Amino acid sequence: MSAMTETTQPRRVPTGDREDEIQVYGLHKSFGELEVLKGIDLTVHRGEVVCVIGPSGSGKSTLLRCVNMLEQPTQGQVFIMNEEITDPDADIDRLRTMMGMVFQQFNLFPHLTATENCTIALTRVLKKSSADARRIAQENLAKVGLGDRGDSYPAKLSGGQQQRVAIARALSMDPEMMLFDEPTSALDPELVGDVLSVMRDLANGGMTMMVVTHEMAFARDVADRVIFMDGGVIVEEGPPDEVIGNPKEERTRLFLKRVLDPTHVNAGAEDAAYAERHKAARVHHHQED
Ligand SMILES: Nc1ncnc2c1ncn2[C@@H]1O[C@H](COP(=O)(O)OP(=O)(O)OP(=O)(O)O)[C@@H](O)[C@H]1O
Ligand SMILES: [Mg+2]
Repeated sequence: MSAMTETTQPRRVPTGDREDEIQVYGLHKSFGELEVLKGIDLTVHRGEVVCVIGPSGSGKSTLLRCVNMLEQPTQGQVFIMNEEITDPDADIDRLRTMMGMVFQQFNLFPHLTATENCTIALTRVLKKSSADARRIAQENLAKVGLGDRGDSYPAKLSGGQQQRVAIARALSMDPEMMLFDEPTSALDPELVGDVLSVMRDLANGGMTMMVVTHEMAFARDVADRVIFMDGGVIVEEGPPDEVIGNPKEERTRLFLKRVLDPTHVNAGAEDAAYAERHKAARVHHHQED
């Protein structure tokens, strides 16, 4: 039945416009009976910073994970630089080298130094010489403010520093675009600012970015476009001043009230749901400290 539905979907062709770096058409994703994405259409343009906001469980991470095929969509198509990554014959590894990915958990190799964490894929995947790889790693560690910490092992770095190494590692691959999934949400509050400021610099440098975030001030400041998701659909999107500053949709207003107004009667409900879903990540992070 589902195979039939899929084959009857019209196949889209990409726009072919180099500016349209990420193109998502009719994206659906189910986990068993649970339909998490219910038809997402989205284009991210070269140099654009798109922040995705929305309640816990609305499908933000799943959307990002479908863009780089860490999750296989149930239906729909995704094009990266006008090449279809959802095509069964796609060279997913090659297309992924165009996307730097940074997640809540930094996933650094604990037995490798900051520099080695950056060079390993350069030498093994991109076949760079070790001298070139070290030079590239050094440049990118400097870019994230860790030029003097290349020889440090992850355990000797704060969470914020580890996350900046993870960003430097992604940048070392010279990606076309960067995908971030709540890169600051496992960090202690005083470490969040440094990571956001690195991301702000990247945005100002013209990097194409898709950022799932709960940091409303960052989204408001840095995003070219904010997407509000709820229940697996895009409810509202537009410039931050509109979506965050003056939302049109009731669902967006309610969400923002919950996250922005601590005196609201539902304050904490969002945080509680969020904390519950991310407990594992936090425990993991603190064990590493
Ligand atoms: N691998 C999976 N198997 C089963 N269900 C999943 C899986 N991944 C996600 N889900 C479910 O899909 C829904 C959307 O999850 P997703 O992680 O995309 O939400 P989110 O918007 O990123 O939420 P949060 O803000 O808490 O990170 C949730 O109900 C979640 O439990
Ligand atoms: Mg998520």
